[in-house]
Amino acid sequence: MIIAFPPVADSAPHAQVVLVGPGGAMSPAATAADTATGGQLRRALTAARFDGEAAALVEVLAPANMAATRLIAIGTGKLDAADAAAFEKIGGAIAARLLASGETRASVDLSGISAAVPIATAAAHLGHGAVLRGYRFDKYRTTMKDKAKPTLAHLDILGAADAEAAFAPLAGIAAGVFRTRDLVSEPANIIYPESFVASAADLADLGIELTILDQPAMEKLGMGALLGVSQGSVRAPRIMAMRWNGTGDANSRPVVFVGKGVTFDTGGISLKPPAGMEDMKWDMGGAGAVTGAMHALAARKAKAHVVGVVGLVENMPDGNAQRPGDVVTSMNGQTIEVINTDAEGRLVLCDAIWWAQETYDPEVVVDLATLTGAIIISLGHEYAGIFANDDGLAAQLIAAGDASGDKLWRMPLADSFDKLIDSPIADIKNVGPREGGSITAAQFIKRFVKPGVKWAHLDIAGMAWSSKAGPLFDKGATGYGVRLLDRFIAANFEG
Ligand code: BES
Ligand code: MN
Ligand code: ZN
Repeated sequence: MIIAFPPVADSAPHAQVVLVGPGGAMSPAATAADTATGGQLRRALTAARFDGEAAALVEVLAPANMAATRLIAIGTGKLDAADAAAFEKIGGAIAARLLASGETRASVDLSGISAAVPIATAAAHLGHGAVLRGYRFDKYRTTMKDKAKPTLAHLDILGAADAEAAFAPLAGIAAGVFRTRDLVSEPANIIYPESFVASAADLADLGIELTILDQPAMEKLGMGALLGVSQGSVRAPRIMAMRWNGTGDANSRPVVFVGKGVTFDTGGISLKPPAGMEDMKWDMGGAGAVTGAMHALAARKAKAHVVGVVGLVENMPDGNAQRPGDVVTSMNGQTIEVINTDAEGRLVLCDAIWWAQETYDPEVVVDLATLTGAIIISLGHEYAGIFANDDGLAAQLIAAGDASGDKLWRMPLADSFDKLIDSPIADIKNVGPREGGSITAAQFIKRFVKPGVKWAHLDIAGMAWSSKAGPLFDKGATGYGVRLLDRFIAANFEG
């Protein structure tokens, strides 16, 4: 969708959107439309019991005495409290309504309103929300009816001529979110470790330095935990690092993001039940978020040094697959008893995180992973879980979550949980008891974090995919994590 901030509306008839607040408080453009239509807008609002609540919507088709194809009133909530997030939701509601409506162009008029943020900011975020909500993954739908196909191609935002500068970085962020959604949406016969890496090649055009480890390289480094997961698959594993240094200081210590990239998780020999197993194509959601976040940071030329590392494997049952009870040795020399081959994400992360620390000497490591079903039992689909060894880092991430809408809720770490993953025959086992399953998973990863490194683990199993549409995404891949990580860097590492 093309977002523009022209001085006047397009002369061809199109969908016109106006803002209305609580108590029926009309923006100047809404008043003008109501006057032009002889009060038709006001009567429609009354008939719909429209209360001006944020993103509520009333539509008048073929409004009298206007060239518009339709007139839409959208609620702002209390305008003096409307912030960037509120305008994103408004943009999202417009896109959701008009996307496949047959309209190709819409305009929304912000002239003469005042909100909690400058109008340029409001306009840019309204456009951003529309772009994010406008995403679809239709590439495999070859017989879709014309009426179901997206039509909306242009959104003109009026009354905010100077919004372009505020919108440009948001367009970069949206591109990152779309990259994540594309990766997460693709089935596992299309996106597997090698093709994931191949799909990222164009990040080099944005100035990102790519480093790729193939299987022989990982064998040489002794990544027995990651390789153990991969050994049942015919798809070769990969680690990919994406480095963006926008500081101008080659010696600055980076922030490192690490993503779980299990391109399909059957469970391995500890095979998952069939119902819903297709969901495990998005078990690379952490890697997808990290890749999209790197895209976003480079696209908006963030003044920070950030490295994204993704550990890419497929977890399959096979004659060569690892067995429950196998003992593997991770890159840092710790031995791991693999009790359950379905607890594979932590086995991938531990080697990826160790390699990232050895290679990049980061001061901060944040990992993202669709790690446990238990986090969905704890937090549902509203919050990802955050585990951290540093209160300051946790607070920064939670604040970035609140600001971006990619929300986080803090979960505990404690020695009493750590004890639960001691193994009778190795240094550590890969599962604890069923109770507290997300916490023991986090404790496992913690054993691979170097002293002095600030670390947070985000369990995003409940967030990477949604079975229903939200304000800024359709059902399917949400792109969770991209806006969160972008915000986290913007707020803390670009000063
Ligand atoms: N990828 C799954 C976690 C998951 C489950 C993500 C549902 C998204 C939706 C992970 O690899 C897994 O299988 N975890 C097990 C761990 C258990 C064996 C200790 C789980 O959560 O059941
Ligand atoms: Mn699993
Ligand atoms: Zn998994």
